[in-house]
Amino acid sequence: MQTEYLSALNPDDSAAIDRGCELLRAGEVVAFPTETVYGLGADARNAAAIAKVFEAKGRPADNPLIVHVADAEWLRRCSRASGRTAEQAAALAAALLPGPLTLVLPSDPSIPSIARAGLPSVALRIPAHPVALALIERAGPLVAPSANRSGRPSPTTAAHVLDDLAGRIAAVIDGGACAVGIESTVLDLCGDRPVVLRPGAIAPETIAAVLGEPILMRDLMDPAAAPRAPGMKYRHYAPMARVVLLLAAEAPTLPLARGGRIVLTTPRALAAFPGEDVRPLDARTLYAVFREADEIGVDEIVIHAAPHELDAGLMDRIVKAAERMTNDE
Ligand code: TXA
Ligand code: MG
Repeated sequence: MQTEYLSALNPDDSAAIDRGCELLRAGEVVAFPTETVYGLGADARNAAAIAKVFEAKGRPADNPLIVHVADAEWLRRCSRASGRTAEQAAALAAALLPGPLTLVLPSDPSIPSIARAGLPSVALRIPAHPVALALIERAGPLVAPSANRSGRPSPTTAAHVLDDLAGRIAAVIDGGACAVGIESTVLDLCGDRPVVLRPGAIAPETIAAVLGEPILMRDLMDPAAAPRAPGMKYRHYAPMARVVLLLAAEAPTLPLARGGRIVLTTPRALAAFPGEDVRPLDARTLYAVFREADEIGVDEIVIHAAPHELDAGLMDRIVKAAERMTNDE
């Protein structure tokens, strides 16, 4: 299959959206930009199209997908939330959506079981990106996991998508680099208390302020805790290089590097590592640096920040990249 490249870099040009919709309606898989990372889209009401997403990514069938919808009305239509859960979802949608927040809610039966990996719940999100919204408004709800091959970092440019999936998907729509750079916050509203299953750009404090109650963070370190987000039992992407996290107020002196090394640090400390390949530490470019490190084959990625300087979403991705343990995948 030849993957079509569709440019949406000029917002006045609707040809990319037109072609993308045409392919999605025909049951094809089309990658598209969101504010977080690129998504691998398929018609959320077409089980055969959804199966192609799992196939193209090499994604295990027991890891459910996020359904992307256009507005709060669609959010209601795709879920069977009632009572407090429905009120909480409506309040969060009014305050924070469109935006990088995914809500896990009791599913409406119209969402095919394959999208939910057989779960009674569905993950729903309204992306804050003009290209994504234009596509969803016209093509209807779209399932979209991150548009990487399983085991690779999420893509934040159309070029990353093509590196992983060229020849395996019908098209990619190029909307430029993603503004957030890490995946959405996933919040489970199905239980007694709201639980953050995956930290992201929307902080738990922000969610707590909207709901007027404390939010639980799922304890990633507690092996007794059942994996509430099914994807959690899978090993996360980690770069080939050793990832070292240095939390220190002052820039530390690094031991001499044997092989190649990339240093990531906050903008104010950029000049503190003379002679090193230093880059600014930023959620927007973190995954691009991981991809580059794998390509050029550095031995080590040193990440430096002051204690408490990193927000929960960025810290989570760095810790996962540093983890070398394998899981039961
Ligand atoms: O920012 C994002 O969320 C991106 C863009 C493309 O929207 N998408 C994304 O999708 O990161 P994916 O498939 O890579 O991650 C979805 C996460 C997984 O951890 C999955 O296990 C969890 O959401 N999830 C999906 N449905 C769920 C459900 N019903 N219950 C609990 N967790 C669920
Ligand atoms: Mg992913």
